[in-house]
Amino acid sequence: MQNKIQRLLKEVETLAAKSAQEAEEIRVQWLGKKGIVTVLFDEFKNIAAEEKRVLGQQLNALKTAVQEKTAALRGAAEQSPDNVSGDYTLPGFPHPSGARHPITIVRNEIIDIFKRSGYTLAEGPEIEDDWHVFSALNFPPEHPARDMQDTFFIRQGDNAVLLRTHTSSVQVRKMDTQQPPIRVICPGRVFRNEAISARAHCIFHQVEGLYIDEKVSFADLKQAIVYFAQELFGAGTKIRLRPSYFPFTEPSAEVDVSCNICGGRGCNICKGTGWLEIMGCGMVDPNVLEANHIDPIKYTGFAFGMGVERIAMLKWQVRDLRLYFENDVRFLKQFAGANS
Ligand code: PHE
Repeated sequence: MQNKIQRLLKEVETLAAKSAQEAEEIRVQWLGKKGIVTVLFDEFKNIAAEEKRVLGQQLNALKTAVQEKTAALRGAAEQSPDNVSGDYTLPGFPHPSGARHPITIVRNEIIDIFKRSGYTLAEGPEIEDDWHVFSALNFPPEHPARDMQDTFFIRQGDNAVLLRTHTSSVQVRKMDTQQPPIRVICPGRVFRNEAISARAHCIFHQVEGLYIDEKVSFADLKQAIVYFAQELFGAGTKIRLRPSYFPFTEPSAEVDVSCNICGGRGCNICKGTGWLEIMGCGMVDPNVLEANHIDPIKYTGFAFGMGVERIAMLKWQVRDLRLYFENDVRFLKQFAGANS
């Protein structure tokens, strides 16, 4: 009988069931009224007393093994894919997730860089008046930028209402409400009545900055721009300032960075010059400080402004600005994962 029990124990290990029902059949076959184990227990009654202790233990072990095995088989069968609706082993269908628009990615990157050097964010309305877009920024009344050529007027005349042509208007609003030190960046949408082409659009995005405090110098401006350019385009990036003119800054400059494509040797992106223009900047004109109730003797400041589309074009070598507005997913998809 001992041999038989050992053999049966091995057999129990090999038992298999494809369904819960089969597992139950096995259980009955072994433990039911006429089951293999039950019959053995009957035979056990007739066994000599001295053998009973050892055999009894072995028989109980067999019974436990059968109980455990059939319970495990039933559990496995109940969880098998055949037993539930749908096949959980099939490959999943990933939910397509969206990605940020490339302009948003670059705008956020620009904002992050300035935030790291202590700038806070300021936003303002897209529909503005003449004061905030022009007059407070030292635009003479006859300045061509006020012309219909550039500005979308909603209402002309003395109380003109217009779409802002730059986010410098937000800087004016900031100066209205706060005395220096002022250190802000103003991201936002701007509007200019320009013919749409590969290089220009009537709607685009800007990030402008303003820093006013005691003893702010042109050297501070230069350093702020070097830091920005190297953070955005890489550590080795050089900058170059070319004299320029803006009504609200004096002196004014146009900023070029060394071409990140050819490393300054000259390529078709930088048109062989080795330099790419990225923004305008300058020291805030004392007239602007005065118009905005800031003491131009005590305070000086610098301002800068850049087009986000232009930076994005340079960053990814996109040759046609219109692509950013057409929302062709084949174009936009390429920037998924370039998040920042
Ligand atoms: N406001 C200017 C523009 O829109 C950019 C600029 C800002 C230039 C600040 C100099 C200083 O073109």
